[in-house]
Amino acid sequence: MARFGRRKNDDDEAKKKITKASLKKSLRLFKYVKPYAGTFAVGLVFLFLSSAASMVFPYLTGQLVDAANTDFLDQINRIALLLLGVFFLNAVFSFFRIYLFAIVTQKTLASLRQATYYQLIRLKMKFFSERRVGELNSRISSDISLLQETLTTTIAEFLRQIIIIVIGIALLTYISGKLTLLMLALVPVVVLVAVLFGKKIRKLSKEAQDAVADSNVIVEETLQGIATVKAFVNERFEYLRYKKRTDDVIGVSLKGAKWRGAFASFIIFCLFGSIVAVIWYGVVLVQEDQLSIGDLFTFILYSVFVGASLGGIADLYSQLQKAIGATENLLEIFDEDKEEEQEKQFSKKITEGKISFKAVDFAYPSRSDVEVLKNLSFEIESGQQVALVGPSGAGKSTITSLILKFFEVSKGEILIDKLKINEYALADLRSAMAIVPQDVVLFGGSIYDNILYGNPDASKKEVKEAARKANAVEFIEAFPDGYDTLVGERGVQLSGGQRQRIAIARAILKNPKILILDEATSSLDSKSEQLVQQALDELMKGRTSLVIAHRLSTIQKADNILVLQEGRLVESGNHQELLAKEDGLYRDLKTLQMGV
Ligand SMILES: Nc1ncnc2c1ncn2[C@@H]1O[C@H](COP(=O)(O)OP(=O)(O)O)[C@@H](O)[C@H]1O
Ligand SMILES: [Mg+2]
Repeated sequence: MARFGRRKNDDDEAKKKITKASLKKSLRLFKYVKPYAGTFAVGLVFLFLSSAASMVFPYLTGQLVDAANTDFLDQINRIALLLLGVFFLNAVFSFFRIYLFAIVTQKTLASLRQATYYQLIRLKMKFFSERRVGELNSRISSDISLLQETLTTTIAEFLRQIIIIVIGIALLTYISGKLTLLMLALVPVVVLVAVLFGKKIRKLSKEAQDAVADSNVIVEETLQGIATVKAFVNERFEYLRYKKRTDDVIGVSLKGAKWRGAFASFIIFCLFGSIVAVIWYGVVLVQEDQLSIGDLFTFILYSVFVGASLGGIADLYSQLQKAIGATENLLEIFDEDKEEEQEKQFSKKITEGKISFKAVDFAYPSRSDVEVLKNLSFEIESGQQVALVGPSGAGKSTITSLILKFFEVSKGEILIDKLKINEYALADLRSAMAIVPQDVVLFGGSIYDNILYGNPDASKKEVKEAARKANAVEFIEAFPDGYDTLVGERGVQLSGGQRQRIAIARAILKNPKILILDEATSSLDSKSEQLVQQALDELMKGRTSLVIAHRLSTIQKADNILVLQEGRLVESGNHQELLAKEDGLYRDLKTLQMGV
């Protein structure tokens, strides 16, 4: 339901009133058109030429009709040839107009897409934690596609129609002022009413479509849960539900049909009526010798042109509104805060990998009222292995996010080596760290590329060495394509343990000072866990490592264990010390696990 419900609103929401401010905002996007302004201008010239060429057509046709009265076959042939020539020119102009606008559009869109994407991936984590991936994805795809329509057709058409209307009315007045007055009194009014009609009809037909979609949801749901429907003997109930929805469709559709019928009557009577009125008055003028038959012919053709353009322009206007809505959505991304890029000369390298938290308070920006970490202080010496344990939701992963500086602390300080975390350039900070998460994401590509992700400069030998240390060689070489095996959405599906070992190989290749393992082994079976654990032990050698683990067996060897509860550090010490505490949380957690 929600899916279809949403689509219903989309249309209304996406349309923005065109105001000075919104237009000004959208004009910011013209930065991306600017490099192609020359091509665009040439395209405009062709647009003008092709519109002008179409305007010659009614004139020459009128001449042809008048020539029929004069008996000069030469004249008739000449005009016919001229007409043909004009059509040929129009054909050539139109080709260039369309092709040139397509060049501008495609190049502009590509640079806009690239800029949006580059902007997007550099935004602060705060931005991503507040939005859904689907929404962001749609910005890049559908909003930009809407702009594509606008750039290629809408703007060009809009201009073309305006040219036709302006030139058309000027020519009409030139041919006969009186007839133009009558035409302007009738035709535009009728056309505008017709446009309003059309709007109403489109709205109703959309309602009818939505009603059909709603009824389809019932079919979809019940077929998916057919076992449940049958088990509860609810076939009749579902049938009645479906019947009600499909009966609703009749109502909406018939309402639409009434409007369509009225529209047809209106067109037949008023539009053709006003055309008849214009022709009648035109013939009267011909009778009184104020107008030639050819001119009347020309006049009627121009009126049709102008009328059609008036009708088309309303539609184009609503498309422009949608495009402006899309640019506003898109521009929001450009107004968001980017992660700062510190200048290189200030940059310090992390050499030891010591971590200290000093009285850190933290709340997520999206939920600033909930303190996730409270007055948290601890130190991890260089090269130490420290385990972080505690119930889920205690704030363990949050600590890793702060070390990676995905978010800023609310109070207190984080020091890496001897410097505050803010004194490092982001790139240098993160380059010194690697994280192996619980749920490893592999990118579409080969296994080789996925390992190389840890350090794109590594040699083939280094990649293979990393895979060996990560205990991954055996399964990689078992694939017929070996390292070239494709993984990710379109490739082979790897097991959790296999993905984990690729992530470990990635981390080995990165050779970080600080290693973070966030429940890296918690979703594995015991056979994989063993292989992964061996790989992890290899990886942790000689590095500062922060290990978050569910299975306490994996952290018994840690130099220090920090026990976290509701964002506070409640205990710390090594395994033996913590076990010795009578009412300790660690001891509690430990006994719980033994019981399992
Ligand atoms: N991106 C986020 N935005 C808001 N709150 C979050 C976010 N991530 C985690 N939290 C909240 O912070 C608390 C600690 O979460 P987390 O650090 O993931 O716990 P742990 O890793 O110990 O299970 C939880 O209450 C969780 O709901
Ligand atoms: Mg966690």
